[in-house]
Amino acid sequence: MAIPTVIGTPLSSSATKVMFLGAGELGKEVIISLQRLGVEVIAVDRYAHAPGHQVAHRAHVINMSDPVALRTLIEAEKPHFVVPEIEAIATAVLLEIEREGIAEVIPTARAVNLTMNRAGIRRLAAEELGLPTSPYAFADSLDALQEAADRIGYPCFIKPVMSSSGKGQSKVDRSEDIPAAWDYAASGGRVNQGTVIVEGMIDFDFEITQLTVRAVGASGQVETFFCDPIGHRQVAGDYVESWQPQAMSATALQRAREISKAVTDSLGGRGIFGVELFVKGDMVWFSEVSPRPHDTGLVTLASQLQSEFEIHAKAILGLPVNTALLSPAASAVIYGGMDAQGIVFEGVADALKVPDSDIRLFGKPESFPKRRMGVAVCRAGDTDAARANAREAADRVIPKRG
Ligand SMILES: Nc1ncnc2c1ncn2[C@@H]1O[C@H](COP(=O)(O)OP(=O)(O)OP(=O)(O)O)[C@@H](O)[C@H]1O
Ligand SMILES: [Mg+2]
Repeated sequence: MAIPTVIGTPLSSSATKVMFLGAGELGKEVIISLQRLGVEVIAVDRYAHAPGHQVAHRAHVINMSDPVALRTLIEAEKPHFVVPEIEAIATAVLLEIEREGIAEVIPTARAVNLTMNRAGIRRLAAEELGLPTSPYAFADSLDALQEAADRIGYPCFIKPVMSSSGKGQSKVDRSEDIPAAWDYAASGGRVNQGTVIVEGMIDFDFEITQLTVRAVGASGQVETFFCDPIGHRQVAGDYVESWQPQAMSATALQRAREISKAVTDSLGGRGIFGVELFVKGDMVWFSEVSPRPHDTGLVTLASQLQSEFEIHAKAILGLPVNTALLSPAASAVIYGGMDAQGIVFEGVADALKVPDSDIRLFGKPESFPKRRMGVAVCRAGDTDAARANAREAADRVIPKRG
């Protein structure tokens, strides 16, 4: 589809319209960037008052895995761009609307389809592109899993092929623990609950997100741009803190970028991608990729001249982007800590007394103990100081019942 040459006026017949499928905290920030450019935004999620709903022109609540409901809404709203923010979407509809020229899917319907399933993206990366990954196998029964895990060896990771944020995922140290991991995977997968991937453990020094951007460059064509690598720490498959830049050898950085370029070239389209990589010395392994802003990239709200969200918004619209680092910075997650609706946050003023800190509260209507409700970001002279300050700022925010 052609890259747009003009931006219209929202709520008029000339409007440039973008529809978000999934309107969480990451979508909310992209929507705010689009609003600044006078784009008309339609936010869709499966529950009311999602973060992105609150900053869009229109909000809809539908089951996005329902192909009829999804197609009906796209036909009614007639967006120019459809931006999937979550993976639980009827992706066949995205392939159709792209093929029929109804809307442009960001980055491409194929990219969204391949990356929603660990099998699709792993086969592309390891088998078609020949990139280094952990040893892996797929299994659709307990017997097949037991055999595959015993062959790959321990420790290994068992993950539903359709899941994110660590759901249904376990690290298994011994052959005897495979049945429990199989049951746990069945409980955490989204759909197609029968299939899991087993991955041998990579004994990495650290893991990074290589934000990789496909945007129109000076040549007038789509070019690839890289942000500085983001380091992060995961607990139970969920990110708790991130920092930028992550120090690494020149060789490892070059490999990280070669791998990221190979994967994103293959996925195509325009937008930002979060390429997850494991690093040990000069060695780099591909883990997975999200064709959208990445949660660990929340740090770019403080660290970069343009955040990953602003970059995504501009790349969607065919505008130039700037991936320059402004300052070392870090982010630390603020969890809900309880099951409750309409919670309040104490201590925000204290948090903002931490030097060079800022806070985002996502406005989610309901809190769970491990739900990400906000984030603290901090700039500092180096990432160690930034991490300490971000943690301190996040800890000063106390969720309470409303
Ligand atoms: N093969 C592996 N070797 C070593 N560590 C691993 C491996 N697979 C997963 N991990 C660890 O578990 C984390 C989560 O794994 P992964 O990214 O595959 O899950 P996810 O559910 O997609 O998580 P998210 O949606 O938060 O990215 C990784 O960031 C890494 O810390
Ligand atoms: Mg991941």
